[in-house]
Amino acid sequence: MKKILVINGPNLNMLGFREPAIYGDKSYNALVDQIVGEASRLGVSVEVFQSNHEGEIIDRIQQAYGHYEGIVINPAAYTHTSVAILDALKGVGLPTVEVHLSDINSREDFRKFSYVSLYAEKTICGKGFGGYIEALEYLCRR
Ligand code: DQA
Repeated sequence: MKKILVINGPNLNMLGFREPAIYGDKSYNALVDQIVGEASRLGVSVEVFQSNHEGEIIDRIQQAYGHYEGIVINPAAYTHTSVAILDALKGVGLPTVEVHLSDINSREDFRKFSYVSLYAEKTICGKGFGGYIEALEYLCRR
């Protein structure tokens, strides 16, 4: 069975009450439930990890080496700042899909650049929770 690691970055644990006009009114737990449900439908094993700390995200990416066949990552604000997360993803070399709930290209200018996009095979944004489902399907088919 394919094993996929889903990583969510800072403030995504606040889903539901964080800027609902942008990120929706469904909770982080609802997102995790949806991801886990979709994984079982697709017949893949999934682990979902969230952290507000850049170093913890990097540790988790490094630990994925040899244990997972793919990564789905929403690095949240670190998308736009973290060379270290980009380097970690390049270092482990796993197929990676980048997901954003909102459409980062139609928001503030500083959100238009993504370090992670320099490595990710595919970037899905502006599709809400559905972006994670599409990412899992992509990694499954790959
Ligand atoms: C986000 C977009 C980022 O710009 C922002 O910092 C986030 C969430 C998204 O899912 O739309 O925290 O990654």
